[in-house]
Amino acid sequence: MGHGQRVGVAGGAGFLGAHLCAKLLAQGHEVICIDNFVTGQEKNIAALHAHPRFSLIKHDICTPLHLDVEQIYNLACPASPKAYQLHPIETLKTSVIGAMHLLELAKQNKGKILQASTSEVYGDPSFHPQTESYWGNVNPIGIRACYDEGKRCAETLFFDYHRHFGVEIKIARIFNTYGPLMSLDDGRAVSNFIAQALRGDPLIIHGHGKQTRSFCYVDDLVEGLIRLMGTASTVTGPINLGNPEEVTIFSLAKTIRSLTNSTSPIHYALPQSDDPRQRRPDIALAQKHLGWQPRVFLKEGLKRTIDYFSGILYA
Ligand SMILES: NC(=O)c1ccc[n+]([C@@H]2O[C@H](COP(=O)([O-])OP(=O)(O)OC[C@H]3O[C@@H](n4cnc5c(N)ncnc54)[C@H](O)[C@@H]3O)[C@@H](O)[C@H]2O)c1
Repeated sequence: MGHGQRVGVAGGAGFLGAHLCAKLLAQGHEVICIDNFVTGQEKNIAALHAHPRFSLIKHDICTPLHLDVEQIYNLACPASPKAYQLHPIETLKTSVIGAMHLLELAKQNKGKILQASTSEVYGDPSFHPQTESYWGNVNPIGIRACYDEGKRCAETLFFDYHRHFGVEIKIARIFNTYGPLMSLDDGRAVSNFIAQALRGDPLIIHGHGKQTRSFCYVDDLVEGLIRLMGTASTVTGPINLGNPEEVTIFSLAKTIRSLTNSTSPIHYALPQSDDPRQRRPDIALAQKHLGWQPRVFLKEGLKRTIDYFSGILYA
């Protein structure tokens, strides 16, 4: 392990951010979490406060900030459709203006910066599985656009700061990730189904259930982000990070129902607007540049996530 660095994690009180902060601390780094708690929660980082190398700055990245850090991870942005559709303007501002402030910080500090981009930049893809060279199929005026277009614009900004000012950038295109610390009520398939199954409520599938997704366990994803940050300066990405094991939403519902020993029925509801039909990452680039691929199988990851949610629901 190299010497510890001063690392800023914007969005560090969120689901992925809190796991990332914990892992960076375990690796010997000093971690400064920057968060405005729009979707993040104090309980996610409660256990980290006791750590001597951890600090928290309550700050909205839409306002410039000054901080002496060698590395910045930008995870700040509401991530679930429910959350960003509730705060569309803030989501766009955070994605674009917030990212610009962090890029300015990286430029001033001559540090490197990693952007948590998303598979949503591919929109409803006409190529399957998605490689990084695919430009995407996004509806610019739909209800998901504040997120999708915000993240696309952020990638543009990152590349322009890289080309124009020589800022060292890393872009990860993250596919659906799940695990402990996800919010119970964020409207995503895994958390919805687990909560419904544990409560004995019907599992609600939007649409016919044949739409596919691939779900990556959070520990795998965080490992991928840290490896990407550690690559040579020539590796900018974008690089897909996700689990190529593809499942239908129907089979996800059935698996969760059986792992929770639930007798909940499966019900169908109207499809969600602009919901992509298929999603699966091509991870050849991640394998090549990071020597990375997911290790945790869906059933195992779901079991750990169910344990976490049971702990919350039955606490
Ligand atoms: N979880 C996934 O499946 C997934 C998939 C693709 C991309 N991502 C990206 O990864 C990042 C983290 O996702 P997550 O699932 O942990 O979401 P999350 O909502 O749990 O975390 C986002 C964090 O950013 C903070 N934040 C939002 N706006 C901010 C602002 N203006 N200033 C400071 N802090 C702000 C929130 O309070 C929260 O703590 C996001 O950028 C998201 O777009 C996540």
